[in-house]
Amino acid sequence: MSTPHNNANKGDFAKTVLMPGDPLRAKFIAETFLTEPKLVNNVRGVQGYTGTYKGVPVSVMASGMGMPSIGIYAYELYTQYDVENIIRVGSAGAMRADLELGSVVAGQGACTNSNFADQYELGGTYAPICDFGLLTAAVESAKELGVKMPVGNLYSSDTFYDAAGRNMRFSKMGVMAVEMEAAALYCTAAYTGKRALAICSISDNLVNGTELSADERQTNFTNMMKIALEVAVK
Ligand code: ADE
Repeated sequence: MSTPHNNANKGDFAKTVLMPGDPLRAKFIAETFLTEPKLVNNVRGVQGYTGTYKGVPVSVMASGMGMPSIGIYAYELYTQYDVENIIRVGSAGAMRADLELGSVVAGQGACTNSNFADQYELGGTYAPICDFGLLTAAVESAKELGVKMPVGNLYSSDTFYDAAGRNMRFSKMGVMAVEMEAAALYCTAAYTGKRALAICSISDNLVNGTELSADERQTNFTNMMKIALEVAVK
């Protein structure tokens, strides 16, 4: 079996998939953190691997950037590959001055300017939220690892370049950080009856203008990965 975007066979993915945006990061995570990772998908270079962590099967596959992209991959993993949990492990721009570069945040909810949820024809505004069980496990894991992990709202934006100045308006509403995927992931999990969580490592700070280099973004996410992996095996 395969889908238009995934040529893995049924059974190739573990129950839990960690999902970074970048395919090269998926490869890095698989090779760095998983035992005996096996490449199970490479359609369009969107690399998916399955290996084990602490003896438990875990997969990692890239989402690509933005909500249309993660919407495709998450939907297919949930509905065609029997995946139960998707944990996004991405980067985000802090919208609070006190969030340091490289720190980790968990998205309890995801505000958005996207029309993604329009497809469900709800006739109202849906509030995308993470799975409480995954969030609780992540909070426990962060504590065990001694990593501070603020929990709160993310803002999933359709645009990286913010012409309308919306980022700062969401910041004033108490939103912690901006990224581009969590809201679509949470909607897709809700629609398919599955579970999702987004954990993000802060790559830039919109309040004070600081940012990590591309190389630092690649490596400065070990704490986030450890938390996600512990959730996968809890
Ligand atoms: N991901 C990381 N930094 C971001 C930003 N400033 N805006 C949107 N997505 C991001």
